[in-house]
Amino acid sequence: MRILITAGPTREYVDDVRFLSNASSGRMGYSIAEAAVRAGHEVVLVTGPVDLPVPEGVQVAQIETTDELRKSCLELFPSCDGIIATAAVCDYRPRQRVHGKMTKTGAPIVLELVETSDVLAELGEQKAHRWVVGFALESQDPRTNAMRKLRMKNCDCIVLNDTSAISSLENQVEILSPDSETVAEFRGPKTRIAEQLIEFIEDKIVK
Ligand code: CTP
Repeated sequence: MRILITAGPTREYVDDVRFLSNASSGRMGYSIAEAAVRAGHEVVLVTGPVDLPVPEGVQVAQIETTDELRKSCLELFPSCDGIIATAAVCDYRPRQRVHGKMTKTGAPIVLELVETSDVLAELGEQKAHRWVVGFALESQDPRTNAMRKLRMKNCDCIVLNDTSAISSLENQVEILSPDSETVAEFRGPKTRIAEQLIEFIEDKIVK
C-alpha cells in the first residue's frame, strides 16, 4: 500500500519570529512511518518541524503551517490508499500575521485568533475507496470526544490516547470503531505500538 502519514506540530505565526504551536515530538508518527516501511509499504510523510531524523525509505514533505499541511495532504492523498493522521494541528491562527517583528509597547495586546482548516475532516469527506485513521488526544470525556471526531472526520477508526503521550517514548492507546466498540488496545514503546497499528490496519481496516 501507499500510506500518507501526518506527523509533528503545525505552527501559526504571530509575526516573522513568533508562533503558536502544539507540544508534539512527532515520535508516534515517525515510528508509524518506520513500521510501515518495514512492513513493505510505501510511505509519504507530511511533517511539521520536529527534532527527529527522516526515516529511511520515506518520501517526506516538510510543512510548517496548517495551511501548508492542508495543501500537501490534498495533493498527496489521491495517490495514496489511506491516511494515518498523527499531526498535532494548531486549531487557531492569528487573524493577521504581522510582517517583521512586533515591538513592545508597554501595554497589553490582544491576539485575535481564527480557526484553521480541519485537514482530516476535508480528506475524510473526499476519501471514496481510501481508508482514514485519525488520532484523538483527549484530556476529558475521552470516548465521547473521540467518537465525535471519528464521525466528523469520516474515519474508519480512531486511535484514542491521552496527554501523557506528549513527548513520551511510551504510549497507551485504544482503537475505537465507527460503532463505538473498543477493537484494540496497545500499550508500551511507541515503536511497538506503531507496528501493532500497522498490523491492525492491514488485518481489519483494508477492504
Ligand atoms: N486534525 C486535522 N486538522 C485539524 C485538527 C486536527 O487534520 N485542524 C486531525 C489530527 O491530526 C487528528 C484528528 O484530526 O488525527 C483529531 O485531532 P485533535 O487535535 O485530537 O482534535 P480536533 O479536531 O483538533 O479537536 P479539539 O482540538 O477540539 O479536541
